[in-house]
Amino acid sequence: MIPVITIDGPSGAGKGTISQRVAESLGWHMLDSGSLYRLTALAATLDDIGLDNENALTPLAARLDVVFEPSTRGLRILLRGKDVSEAIRAEEIGMKASKVAALPAVRAALLTRQRDFAQAPGLVADGRDMGTTVFPQAKLKVFMTASAEARAERRYKQLMEKGISASLPALVADLKARDEQDSNRSVSPLKPASDAIFLDTTTMGIDEVTERVLAEARKIYR
Ligand code: C5P
Repeated sequence: MIPVITIDGPSGAGKGTISQRVAESLGWHMLDSGSLYRLTALAATLDDIGLDNENALTPLAARLDVVFEPSTRGLRILLRGKDVSEAIRAEEIGMKASKVAALPAVRAALLTRQRDFAQAPGLVADGRDMGTTVFPQAKLKVFMTASAEARAERRYKQLMEKGISASLPALVADLKARDEQDSNRSVSPLKPASDAIFLDTTTMGIDEVTERVLAEARKIYR
């Protein structure tokens, strides 16, 4: 069986950065499952499909025309041939993604696509339900959190570095609203798998968290 490490947790906990570092260090593949929900939300917006229209959103999610392409600046994501790597990261698309992610048929439509990412020599999968639903057989599951304020501050810094202005209180409010929506939905809500290792990264740096996950991985996959 292909080895899988799952990294779940709320928005902005650092899952993306850590998953990337861990995958690079091990030479494994990476799945950013949130990008699939973001792409579905973006495609729905382009096609003028309502975010509660499960009948129309399900085939849209199942047939997403998307290419993940490695580039020198990280992964390039093409939707219908157009580079949307930046566009899908907008806060607005994050909120929309959280809405479409609450629809059971949309989640089911994306399940096989996510499982297909498990390829040799291994996969690091980042999301909300990687350890509970998509890869329940994973031998290493991490649930990563940080306080809402710390998560919003990290996001604020990222946006500033890109020259995008933002309001910190608005970011805190957005994160809390998205966590609430993700935690309270009926299918695959955001919750730690019973066998997950819990990591609160509020006061931890990127290197420290990466090293901690790699240390756990070494115990299992030596
Ligand atoms: O991780 P990211 O912020 O990119 O995810 C965007 C949204 O997609 C989340 O707020 C969540 O609603 C949804 N999502 C999910 N299950 C996953 C990954 C993301 O429901 N495995």
